[in-house]
Amino acid sequence: QLWHVGRTSLPDYHDGQLPWAPSAVNPETELRNQYGEKKQTATPHAMTIEEIAQTVKEFGDAAANAKKAGFDGVEIHSSNGYLIHQFFNNQSNLRTDEYGGSNENKARFFFEVLEAVAQSFPTNRIGCRLNPSLNGVFGIEGTPDTIPFFDYLINRLNEYDLAYLHLSEPFTDVSDIEFLESNIAKHYRPIYNGNLMINNQFDRETGNKVIEEGHADLVAYGKLFISNPDLAHRFKLKAETADWNMKTFYTQGREGYTDYPTLEKEKAKN
Ligand SMILES: Cc1cc2nc3c(=O)[nH]c(=O)nc-3n(C[C@H](O)[C@H](O)[C@H](O)COP(=O)(O)O)c2cc1C
Repeated sequence: QLWHVGRTSLPDYHDGQLPWAPSAVNPETELRNQYGEKKQTATPHAMTIEEIAQTVKEFGDAAANAKKAGFDGVEIHSSNGYLIHQFFNNQSNLRTDEYGGSNENKARFFFEVLEAVAQSFPTNRIGCRLNPSLNGVFGIEGTPDTIPFFDYLINRLNEYDLAYLHLSEPFTDVSDIEFLESNIAKHYRPIYNGNLMINNQFDRETGNKVIEEGHADLVAYGKLFISNPDLAHRFKLKAETADWNMKTFYTQGREGYTDYPTLEKEKAKN
């Protein structure tokens, strides 16, 4: 996964320099620094046109490195309030140049990144991740033009033969926000012609259901896969799944990441 966090960062990670973003808008959130201390975010540095071009090139370099390292494909993280998403949103992107304002302008950085990545991988080896109804996370709030913007973006993605489009159902309840979409897979299935992957809070049953109902081709599991390294095997057997420990999320070291046992190991222990 190729990822630039943009303003969702701290000067602590940049030798005291400000993180970069489309515009100088503070996400007003708390993040942890490299020592695990919680700190308030700073107002980021608004990227110049040259810095945007440099960042597009860096995405391309990252893809070339992934190719060299032997990866079969890459996912572009254009989701969850990070840099590319910051270009999509009207509150984080206040630009008046060709990277802000119209749908085409707000999508420009993303398509430049996609083209740069496509220098190293055929598009059918590239996935893109989007979270259209993200609201109240990392300073991103939906606005009335949010869903029309994602409709435009996802329509354009039909022109690329992507490995998959990875969408998330809203991370927070948006059912009382009239202009946001509560059923992302259902809304985008008729719009997107390629492989549609859906994420957020699925289990075996709800995952099977969304596929049976024809709203998605694939389901991505996050937390369940962390605590069950053999998740697909467990699903196949309809076996119980292990709970995850939130305390070890986003921490350093292997604990809580690579030390959950497989079903076989668990059985061997008992
Ligand atoms: C510890 C942890 C690390 C994560 N890291 C990433 C990441 O690097 N990239 C990403 O796109 N999502 C990341 N996520 C979000 C997950 O991909 C997923 O969207 C989220 O956990 C919701 O899906 P779930 O309910 O199946 O867990 C992370 C989630 C957790 C809990």
